[in-house]
Amino acid sequence: MSNDDGGTKRSDVEHLPMRRRTFVGASVAVGGAVAAFGLLEGCSDEASEEVGETSTVVRLRVNGEPREVTVDNRTSLLDMLREQIGLTGTKKGCDQGACGACTVMINDQRVVSCLTLAVQADGAEVTTIEGLERNGRLHPLQQAFIDEDGFQCGYCTAGQIISGIGGIREGHAGSPEEIREWMSGNICRCGAYTNIVTAVSRVANQGGA
Ligand code: FES
Ligand code: FES
Repeated sequence: MSNDDGGTKRSDVEHLPMRRRTFVGASVAVGGAVAAFGLLEGCSDEASEEVGETSTVVRLRVNGEPREVTVDNRTSLLDMLREQIGLTGTKKGCDQGACGACTVMINDQRVVSCLTLAVQADGAEVTTIEGLERNGRLHPLQQAFIDEDGFQCGYCTAGQIISGIGGIREGHAGSPEEIREWMSGNICRCGAYTNIVTAVSRVANQGGA
């Protein structure tokens, strides 16, 4: 979504050290979701296993299922989820942290998975759009998006829903203005913003996500 100035909200660029890794990078917060370098409490740096100079075995849970994936150290979490694990519900839009289509949860924190390295999710619990339903029932926010027509083409929708859940859980969904601000990193090219905000407000007002 756009801020008042029409741009994507960006804030809090931090440079944090990586442990036991041979690469460096930055942490970027984008309208609520972040690319997580060193921010993910509970991610075990000890669970991974380096394979040669350039690959690592990443052990994590995705939507409650244990996974063990050998990745090139440069692989993004987004590419690991889509191309190696086969969960294609999370979408690649810009691949540079500007659109929010790739938003997922790591340990209940929303992150843009295109700017998060797969190795950073080592030891973590990752939740994607595929992991939201329970016993055949859609998550309340998934249902609200359907009921409120919160999408047109649907390309941004997985990221919008994960980000909306994050915003509600963080307490950043108290008003339409607050929802717009804290989901400002989630761009909808179809312009479904009004109905997206309505859907998020509805679930927030019903007691959360
Ligand atoms: S694909 Fe990740 S922010 Fe656009
Ligand atoms: S519904 Fe098409 S980009 Fe959002």
